[in-house]
Amino acid sequence: MIASRDMFEAELKASASEIENLLERLLSGDVLDQEVARPEALRQAMHYAVLNGGKRLRPFLVMESTRMFGGNQTAALRIGAALECIHCYSLVHDDLPAMDDDDLRRGKPTVHIAFDEATAILAGDGLLTYAFDIIAAPETELAATAKIELVLALARAAGIGGMVGGQALDLAAEKASPGEAGILTLQAMKTGALIRFACEAGAIIAGASEVERKVMRRFGEKIGLAFQLADDLLDITSDAATMGKATGKDADRGKGTLVGLHGQSWAEEQLAMHVKDAEALLESYGERASLLIAAAHFVADRKS
Ligand code: IPE
Ligand code: IPE
Ligand code: MG
Ligand code: MG
Ligand code: MG
Repeated sequence: MIASRDMFEAELKASASEIENLLERLLSGDVLDQEVARPEALRQAMHYAVLNGGKRLRPFLVMESTRMFGGNQTAALRIGAALECIHCYSLVHDDLPAMDDDDLRRGKPTVHIAFDEATAILAGDGLLTYAFDIIAAPETELAATAKIELVLALARAAGIGGMVGGQALDLAAEKASPGEAGILTLQAMKTGALIRFACEAGAIIAGASEVERKVMRRFGEKIGLAFQLADDLLDITSDAATMGKATGKDADRGKGTLVGLHGQSWAEEQLAMHVKDAEALLESYGERASLLIAAAHFVADRKS
């Protein structure tokens, strides 16, 4: 069962505005208990890094997977905000001169261009740390055990064995092509791991069984692969005005991508297969999974 594209887009928009309202409050100048002060320039850079557009797909996946298992939506909103902080930090650092060296992100100057490099590094550091604050804080209405499970799963997804490790492999791949298996590992880590967490988070928030957590992890892995494949395709088929970021750079920089290895039509076929596999994983949830299945399609067909 799949929700219509219109319905999915309306739901994505509604959840994005809820997330943005919360992020706006979290990144205000109000000092929290035991914080000493919030330096204004750094706060502005963190705010700019987060509240500058963006599809908000990862928070949507957290909220929708939570809804599917009947979990607490208010808690899901905060976990989604925490994950978006990590995602945005990864983009700020990804764009730095020492990494992909990009000037445009979400249609605006990147953080190191709008501020400066040191501030961009610190804004990323601040957002990474804040993510774990948001999960642990008393305002997140979850049992301590659920919070610990979320912290652990997010740390594993974001760190050396996840996103950060994947970014290291991505940079290494510019110098020596890692081959197909290497690219799959790299992509599962740099992009897949946070998306996998987004999907598993709902099962954790709702206290679902280990079997259900595993299903959601596998669903997340599938759409994570599809997501990066689509990103790599869009790098060659789209343009900066549509994407809000530079395109046509992966080949120039010698990025390790499957599109580069096998070409566009192979990648399009693979993309369709990943979506089918993702859909099959949630078949038994019927109507309850219809928006998550629509999200899997969106990941593959998106235009930006
Ligand atoms: C871009 O992610 C970075 C990748 C992992 C490929 P998104 O395409 O989700 O970026 P935003 O959040 O919508 O800007
Ligand atoms: C970025 O991959 C992945 C992370 C930021 C973790 P890309 O380098 O392909 O993302 P874009 O194309 O700059 O958004
Ligand atoms: Mg990169
Ligand atoms: Mg990049
Ligand atoms: Mg890219």
